Amino acid sequence: MRLWLPAGLLMASTILAAGCATGQSSTTSGAESIAARQKLMKEQGAAMRSISNKMKAGQVQAVASDAETLVTTARRIPSLFPPGSLDPDTSRAKPEIWQKRSEFEGYAKTLETKASALAATARGGNTQATSAAVADLGRTTCTACHDTFRGPELKK
Ligand code: HEC
Repeated sequence: MRLWLPAGLLMASTILAAGCATGQSSTTSGAESIAARQKLMKEQGAAMRSISNKMKAGQVQAVASDAETLVTTARRIPSLFPPGSLDPDTSRAKPEIWQKRSEFEGYAKTLETKASALAATARGGNTQATSAAVADLGRTTCTACHDTFRGPELKK
């Protein structure tokens, strides 16, 4: 028993250290967060395009891997919108994100849940069900969040 105690403590401190490392990312500058989340959103756009192309090509089961990408990116959304990372010159993020934080994070959570369900549906190979799940995901997560929390296109 005694031998296991230090090992347990070591594990706890490793977990704590990992927690601190995550905490640090929220102190990165607003500009870095803006660049990182725009890159992440581009990845989501690419995943949605890939899904749509695969559906057109009848490769229903192949949609699952793109859906998994959306699960992973969805989880990262909240941390890439730290308070104060607002810049009307470079970002379309609206101040409402920080005023209605739970609604904002709710859309990210819904994306994670629906993308995970989509992956399962796609693996089942049913074209109609997969197609319906894709449309529903786009409308209730991407479009819904953009309509509420993304401002107009930036002037170049
Ligand atoms: C929780 C809210 C939320 C969800 C869900 C969401 N987005 Fe976004 N998205 C945003 C916000 C806010 C911006 C603007 C970010 C900025 O400019 O700082 C954005 C920007 C984008 C951009 C433009 C990136 C750029 O600057 O080039 C694309 C593309 C995009 N989103 C695609 C998607 C797709 C596809 C989905 C669904 C799979 C999705 N988003 C889901 C909030 C969301």
